[in-house]
Amino acid sequence: MAGQKLAIEGGSKAVDKLGPFPTKIGRDELLEVLDLWQMSPENTSKIKAIIEGEKNLKGPHLFRYYNPRPSKVLAAEGAMKELIGTKFCMAANSCTSALVSAYRSLGIGMGDEVIVPAYTFFATSATVVAANAIPVIVDVDETLCLDAKAIEKAITKRTKAIVPVHMRGAPAQMDAIMDVANKHGIPVIEDVAQAAGGSFKGKMLGSIGKIGCFSFDYYKIIVSGEGGFYTTNDERLYTRALNWHDCAACWRPDRFGPEKENEDLFCGENYRMSELEGAVALAQIRRAKAIVAGHRSANHKIKNAIEKFKGLSFRRLADEAGDTGICLVMFLPDADVTQKALPALKAEGVPCGGIYDSKVRDWHTYNYWEHILQYKSVAADKLPWSGVPKNELPKYTKDMCPKTLELLSRAILIDIDYNFGDEECNKISTAINKVLNVYIG
Ligand SMILES: Cc1ncc(COP(=O)(O)O)c(C=O)c1O
Repeated sequence: MAGQKLAIEGGSKAVDKLGPFPTKIGRDELLEVLDLWQMSPENTSKIKAIIEGEKNLKGPHLFRYYNPRPSKVLAAEGAMKELIGTKFCMAANSCTSALVSAYRSLGIGMGDEVIVPAYTFFATSATVVAANAIPVIVDVDETLCLDAKAIEKAITKRTKAIVPVHMRGAPAQMDAIMDVANKHGIPVIEDVAQAAGGSFKGKMLGSIGKIGCFSFDYYKIIVSGEGGFYTTNDERLYTRALNWHDCAACWRPDRFGPEKENEDLFCGENYRMSELEGAVALAQIRRAKAIVAGHRSANHKIKNAIEKFKGLSFRRLADEAGDTGICLVMFLPDADVTQKALPALKAEGVPCGGIYDSKVRDWHTYNYWEHILQYKSVAADKLPWSGVPKNELPKYTKDMCPKTLELLSRAILIDIDYNFGDEECNKISTAINKVLNVYIG
């Protein structure tokens, strides 16, 4: 050993080669993924044999940044930008994460208020609290989305964002909402979790407000199991969201770069999407238009075949052409007849559900959000509630949005599948007519 020339001085390398070693993620992992697709046993064995015989298996690098292959997450972001028509798009691991990133990128925090609808999945409001701000809960109207008139009354000096949720696939009344927001100079964050592919008067949902937040969890229109997207035309917001979602900007493309502008760098969380979700999301985004077209067509067929009943009305569509058509919402005359008609519809085999039953807990109506109504906090600091003088906190009560509860208690939601053809649509509309004839005919 002694006297040997160092490699740095032209000597031979002590370690000339490491490996080859098996890839970090290899055959076993691929087979587990394949198992999710539930192919026939014969085909599974054939594919298994091919995978086991593959000599040059190059395992995937499932991290979105510094990937030797073109990133699927990056491609999915590009496809989303094209679909929604915004300049920027950031993938995240959920819509919940996209929403927190939205509030944080706008600089929302302690002492701020965010207006949210009384009818939405709880995540829209929970994320406001997670960002240390205070949700101000207001009524929805017959669109089942935020009521622009109710927003105006709820604005205070603390209001820092308004979050219309395009509930159950249909657009909120975005013109009236944007008018109120612009009049007061308050940014709008569209929660598009349930309405990817929908539009309002020709503009794609998620491109109308400052920010759009999408969910790709399995129960949404286009899905990747878990996943979310944040869309915007504002480069600064995008940069701040990217940094928030990426563990304090630790892995962003220019990894060790200094901040371009003051307040670009701050401590964030990790909401990155993995390449597995990115790959599924990419394929789904490519199919989005066809999926939405299928929903719309089936929805129209069923709706048009429902007879005129006195006392039957449908959800008001702020823009019928922009509805994704994932469901058809009917209003019956009162909660009592709604609760009677529902089991009858289910017994006929109609894919349907109620939206609000005062005896059944549900995370979509504000009156069950005790976490908020009772000012609950995760820590002894009692944030976000301790960030505002007590007498300035919103006075939450279970009956503060009566219009929402009244509307929802009379609503029946028919689930539409984009695969429904004429036969399914006919059967469903016939069953609806059969039941409504008995209950409100
Ligand atoms: C309106 C709305 N916002 C936000 C979310 C949260 O989405 P995710 O499950 O992707 O976090 C959901 C999910 O159900 C939702 O329906």
